[in-house]
Amino acid sequence: MHIRPAAATDVPALTDLYNHYVVHTPVTFDIAPVSPENRRAWFQAHPETGRHRLLVAEDGDGGLLGYASSSPFKDRQAYETSVETSVYLAPGRTGRGIGAVLYGALFDVLAGEDVHRAYAGITQPNAASMRLHERFGFRPAGLLQQVGRKFDQYWDVAMLEKRFGER
Ligand SMILES: CC(C)(COP(=O)(O)OP(=O)(O)OC[C@H]1O[C@@H](n2cnc3c(N)ncnc32)[C@H](O)[C@@H]1OP(=O)(O)O)[C@@H](O)C(=O)NCCC(=O)NCCS
Repeated sequence: MHIRPAAATDVPALTDLYNHYVVHTPVTFDIAPVSPENRRAWFQAHPETGRHRLLVAEDGDGGLLGYASSSPFKDRQAYETSVETSVYLAPGRTGRGIGAVLYGALFDVLAGEDVHRAYAGITQPNAASMRLHERFGFRPAGLLQQVGRKFDQYWDVAMLEKRFGER
């Protein structure tokens, strides 16, 4: 496995990976599949420097295993030292430690940036994601009850917070 910053050539595979979760799961609250143009804009918003990063893991043949991202938590400027982080693996690649390696690489990079807090919103239930976030020092910051509706059902989202420079 190799971890590197995402490249423009990853956009088609990143689109397919994300759309798997859009169509089949409540993990993301997008409901309709996103276009490659949508993912290209998202890719361009995550440069190779600064707080907002997009790392990919690829296998020995260059196949996409997954990605980890840090994005603006909210747009208003006082929020700029807070990021929202996320990690998605290709279907069939979960449960083998890849998520932990990717997230580790993301937080190694963010340690050198002016980031004070990271937040993750996890649709419940998602035991693997909750465990992964705990492992990286995220702690509960609140439960948003029935905050999203998808597949004709309301879903709770657990908000988790990671403090940089503290455990
Ligand atoms: C969530 C996700 C990124 C975790 O990555 P992963 O490679 O599958 O997880 P890992 O193998 O690194 O395991 C991380 C931890 O979760 C635990 N875990 C993994 N699968 C689990 C499961 N199904 N139930 C409970 N715990 C689980 C592991 O034992 C490990 O715990 P440890 O740190 O105590 O050893 C991955 O499963 C995934 O992409 N899921 C679908 C998309 C998603 O839910 N993304 C998160 C959005 S918030």
